[in-house]
Amino acid sequence: MSNPRKIIIDTDPGQDDAAAIMLALGSPEDIEVLGITTVAGNVPLPLTSRNARIVCEWSGRPDVKVFAGCDRPLTRPLVTAEHVHGNTGLDGPELHEPTMPLQPENAVDFIIETLRNAPPNTITLCTLGPLTNIGKAFRDAPDVIDRVQKIVLMGGAYFEVGNITPAAEFNIYVDPEAADIVFKSGRKITVMPLDVTHKALTTAPRIQALRDLGTTAGTAMAEMVDFFERFDVEKYGSAGAPLHDPCVIAYLIKPELFSGRDINVMIETTSELTLGMTVADWWGVTDRPANATFMGDVDADGFFQLLTERIGRL
Ligand code: BDR
Ligand code: CA
Repeated sequence: MSNPRKIIIDTDPGQDDAAAIMLALGSPEDIEVLGITTVAGNVPLPLTSRNARIVCEWSGRPDVKVFAGCDRPLTRPLVTAEHVHGNTGLDGPELHEPTMPLQPENAVDFIIETLRNAPPNTITLCTLGPLTNIGKAFRDAPDVIDRVQKIVLMGGAYFEVGNITPAAEFNIYVDPEAADIVFKSGRKITVMPLDVTHKALTTAPRIQALRDLGTTAGTAMAEMVDFFERFDVEKYGSAGAPLHDPCVIAYLIKPELFSGRDINVMIETTSELTLGMTVADWWGVTDRPANATFMGDVDADGFFQLLTERIGRL
């Protein structure tokens, strides 16, 4: 009998966040989504909360509980990424006004209560945006930290260094104080940095496979990628767009697609020049203990096969 892993998806959709949500919702034998919590990131909170619900409706899952969380980082002004994701955050397909409700409870309260009420070590936190909601939950309710089974997050970089500044990846840069809390929490963390996600590229045949699904979710995904990929193609001269966030969910379903190292990772929170950098001891040059499994490679064909197959079920 299948025993799906219970997860909370914390997210700032975002076209690639949308792909992650669809992958999770298309994989009920592997994953049970207890709730989707939204955070300000790619676009402001009202839009990420709207977008999460649009994606659930495209996926035929208006029953999923969506909770809005923090509308700004713990201590800093919000930085957004409309230059990558468009003004809506989900530019590409035509967007409808979602009819499914936003839950009345705040996302941070939902995270804290869910962890408190579940048996210890049974819930995985999957974070796809700035770590504000999780950082706040851990700061305000430190008793729940030990109850987390695992944290799998998209964020940071070592070899690829930065995408929002020369030194920092967007999700960590937006709220480095929250990231610092999470990386110092003592829970098991699996990190999908740009080093991995820049290998998960949407080539023309891969987008066509999504379009050929002929479903609402598949078509929406293909149209989102049509818009989303122009940014990275122009910037990096790459074959397509990196689908960052679904790497988190794919790892839960097929960890064998990814490889990495158990290393120490610290977050830069003070330097103006390198703020939000993930200082990753990939080469083991310090004695600092490992606090994360930092991924370095992905089987991109296997990843896109999984993504397309699971989105095809929606
Ligand atoms: C991350 O930042 C956002 O733009 C994407 O959704 C992804 O989570 C990549 O740096
Ligand atoms: Ca994201």
